Amino acid sequence: MSNYHIKGLEEYFQVYRKSVDNPTQFWEEIAEENFVWRKRWDNVLAWDKEDNRVKWFEGAQLNITENCIDRHLYIRPDKTAILFEPNNPQEPAQHITYKELHERVCKFANVLKDKGIQKGDRVCIYLPMIPELAISLLACARIGAIHSVVFAGFSATALSSRINDATCKMVITSDGSYRGAKTIDLKGIVDEALQDTPSIESVLVVKRIQSDITMQNGRDYWLQPLLDVASSDCPAEIMNAEDELFILYTSGSTGKPKGMVHTTAGYMIYAAYTFKNVFQYREQDVYWCSADIGWITGHSYIVYGPLVNGATTVLFEGVPTYPDWGRFWNIIEKHKVTQFYTAPTAIRALAKENLDYVEKYDLSSLKILGTVGEPINEEAWHWYNDNIGKKKSPIVDTWWQTETGGMMISPIPYATPTIPTFATLPLPGIQPVLMDEKGVELTGNQVEGRLAVKFPWPSMARTIWGNHQRYKDIYFSTYPGNYFTGDGALRDATGYYRITGRVDDVIIVSGHNLGTAPIEDAINEHQAVAESAIVGFPHNVKGNALYGYVILKETGEGRDHNNVRKEINQLITERIGPIAKLDKIQFTSGLPKTRSGKIMRRILRKIASGETEQLGDISTLLNPEVVEEVIKNVLV
Ligand code: WT7
Repeated sequence: MSNYHIKGLEEYFQVYRKSVDNPTQFWEEIAEENFVWRKRWDNVLAWDKEDNRVKWFEGAQLNITENCIDRHLYIRPDKTAILFEPNNPQEPAQHITYKELHERVCKFANVLKDKGIQKGDRVCIYLPMIPELAISLLACARIGAIHSVVFAGFSATALSSRINDATCKMVITSDGSYRGAKTIDLKGIVDEALQDTPSIESVLVVKRIQSDITMQNGRDYWLQPLLDVASSDCPAEIMNAEDELFILYTSGSTGKPKGMVHTTAGYMIYAAYTFKNVFQYREQDVYWCSADIGWITGHSYIVYGPLVNGATTVLFEGVPTYPDWGRFWNIIEKHKVTQFYTAPTAIRALAKENLDYVEKYDLSSLKILGTVGEPINEEAWHWYNDNIGKKKSPIVDTWWQTETGGMMISPIPYATPTIPTFATLPLPGIQPVLMDEKGVELTGNQVEGRLAVKFPWPSMARTIWGNHQRYKDIYFSTYPGNYFTGDGALRDATGYYRITGRVDDVIIVSGHNLGTAPIEDAINEHQAVAESAIVGFPHNVKGNALYGYVILKETGEGRDHNNVRKEINQLITERIGPIAKLDKIQFTSGLPKTRSGKIMRRILRKIASGETEQLGDISTLLNPEVVEEVIKNVLV
């Protein structure tokens, strides 16, 4: 039996038992046998339950890039580490070997040093899905700089607030990006964002689309000329186990995004361990995760998890629709992809198109399929299973979060029997619990409640950047001693978990986690708007779409409603990004509120979803009469 590589259900149960009975011994054995250390740890786990601080492998020293790259130079130097598939299928794919990756990361790291970046400095990365994105993460890690990747679909305002929150010294970006048939002016967005970011000293610019951009003297530098003269020798900075590796922002129920902090050793171990088991990764495999590196899925399962395991990881620049709806299947055939990991929203969009797009391609290389980001509905699951997996590839429905760093509840292929819509069983080391609304643990099976985790795991986010109190309040105050996920879940008769969705004011749209508060803040900036409330409603491709209820000021009442709708979505695009645009906007004279003045989103959600029969008791509201008006004017 190997703890590191689980191959059957019996073995899973044994390993899981061990991981719960003796977590420190369990993780210690995994750490000892599978990673490269510069110094051994003194203590596996230190857990301060009062202050909600955990430290894994305290005293150990390492550099994650030695685990991702250097150690492979002896055994698989010429194996493809990163397989880059460009947006345009006519442009050749690039096979970056481990040896080349080493050289490119070292050169890049030397450029960072040359521009004054030191251990502990924060570097913001705002790049499209090109090799330089993965390389820049690793270059930061090489010298101990903390990377903060901002998804390149976010707006200038969102970018600048993230830069300021982490006081980044540098931004790495590109002239622009390709997105299907379109190009996007990334550097223009960065220039706008940098109007009010005092901590930024320099900007490195990758040339990707050869567009005409403005370079600010003394601040902006083209990357390539600097790489051309950089040395390819860059010794890895020796890091402590708990040194910060990266910050990644995620939205929450309140306005300000949360900069989740992940540290070095625990994150590395857990990302690698889960990658190996959940994808049953083997040396000859070609693994592809279609997420963007701007999200945690890309950090853990395009870059770190695969590379620590010496894998070949596909990095795709484009979109599923370009040049046509067959693009994903074309890539799977072209590179003989063995594991494919994507989001339910992509599956639903692809399933709507003609099956010819799928059947044109040979998908026989596929062994394992994965999904992440939101609950997968039964129909999408079957479409994926029948048409992509041809009923022979297990589907891993992986539940996890930016905060958890790695997958938490997921089947292990060939071990855990799968059931559509169930994330199934906790991975080794993970102890989920279900709580009722009063905070009492629901024991036994066939129960439904709120999902929490009662014991630390190596890759949990350690804090919120600059605000540990907020971290404690959000994650550990609801059920003291337990990490609260914000999700609802049920446990069936066999102990399988099914995630039922968020129980807080976060809405998952096309797999993107959106807090209602920042969107409402953006809407309320409109000079004609008095108040607004956002809810999610079911959408057959996006999972959820956004529905806005807006009260106009008296001065705004004469305005053309369609114009106001456009302007509101424009504001949202500027403040957050196009992903947060509203599908429907209903103007109303009031919003249902409790007597203490809290907006009753539950009622608004039901109305937007067409469930007006199940509103429950509304007589205790401050303004029950408004419910009738809202129902009367609902947009279908
Ligand atoms: C939220 C976290 C983890 C990478 C992508 C999202 C939802 C995630 C599943 C799943 C049902 C899921 C949860 C979670 N979620 N995976 N397999 N089944 N729901 O990361 O942006 O931090 O969002 O995504 O609601 O809390 P994130």
